[in-house]
Amino acid sequence: MGRSKSWIWAALVVVMLLLVVAEGKKIFEKKEKVCDKGWECKNSKFCCNETITDFFQVYQFENLFSKRNAPVAHAVGFWDYQSFILAAAQYEPLGFGTTGGKHMAMKEVAAFLGHVGSKTSCGYGVATGGPLAYGLCYNHEMSPSQSYCADDLKYPCVDGAEYYGRGALPVYWNSNYGIIGDGIKVDLLNHPEYLEQNATIAFKAALWRWMTPLNKKQPSAHDVFVGNWKPTKNDTLSKRLPGFGATMNLLYGDLVCGQGFVDSMNNVISHYQYYLDLMGVGREQSGDNLDCAEQVAFNPTVAPTQPAATS
Ligand SMILES: *[C@@H]1O[C@H](CO)[C@@H](O)[C@H](O)[C@H]1NC(C)=O
Ligand SMILES: *[C@@H]1O[C@H](CO)[C@@H](O)[C@H](O)[C@H]1NC(C)=O
Ligand SMILES: *[C@@H]1O[C@H](CO)[C@@H](O)[C@H](O)[C@H]1NC(C)=O
Repeated sequence: MGRSKSWIWAALVVVMLLLVVAEGKKIFEKKEKVCDKGWECKNSKFCCNETITDFFQVYQFENLFSKRNAPVAHAVGFWDYQSFILAAAQYEPLGFGTTGGKHMAMKEVAAFLGHVGSKTSCGYGVATGGPLAYGLCYNHEMSPSQSYCADDLKYPCVDGAEYYGRGALPVYWNSNYGIIGDGIKVDLLNHPEYLEQNATIAFKAALWRWMTPLNKKQPSAHDVFVGNWKPTKNDTLSKRLPGFGATMNLLYGDLVCGQGFVDSMNNVISHYQYYLDLMGVGREQSGDNLDCAEQVAFNPTVAPTQPAATS
């Protein structure tokens, strides 16, 4: 009798202990604080800090892209602040322009827009106001040199659609229109023209590219810029280190990186630094590993003599 009673007590104590442990674990694993800033940023820890509209306003956008509606420009009236902010709102809860505090956030906006500015500039040759003032001058490739249609089982070319360069970080080829369209849930394979008809969609496509690794084992441009990424031994041996340089590596690979101090690379860096100055951050804050002159590409271009890759 006494023995079975104490067994029951022992069992009860065990159950109580288990409950206490379970409760403790729940407290320990309590979710991080999330915040809600309305339409611009909600339901994420990244929304607790300042958001982009707190430190980047219309006049700054106008400063950065001051000649985009000049007579020589090719997308007059197309690009505006509102489209950028609407597109950014989708990525702020994921950390775009909201990671690491205001200083890092401003730098990330300058870095992303630096890429955009350099890829959409018409500021070559004689340009009043300096060549760097002509970002967002294009929204599509003017004289496509080829059809940009390649065999692809998943994203076959659609009759009548053309896949020349379009957007804020220009997209080329049917496969890229397909992948990015899936990423932003817009049917770009059937409607590549959306990227030159709707600036919000164009910025969304560019931000998706900035925020998303191309390859599961790789970081995104966002990751290498804000310090979310630790290089492996292979990366270090290939001179890939966190900073602005690696963002060029991820976005353009060996078209721009590992070629020394070539114009195509210097031009992207110049835009980034010009924007840092205009935003009041200052180019001396550009960060370590600014260039990718000696970096081996994360994803080397397949040499034409080798068998073609499957995609
Ligand atoms: C918020 O800002 C602080 C510095 O102001 C920073 O340390 C922190 O990492 C930021 N939070 C997030 C989620 O990035
Ligand atoms: C542009 O695209 C956005 C996002 O998909 C949409 O909300 C907006 O209505 C479009 N604007 C125009 C003018 O079609
Ligand atoms: C490191 O690089 C070598 C040669 O390029 C490659 O074979 C290997 O798979 C890489 N290792 C990792 C962990 O990526």
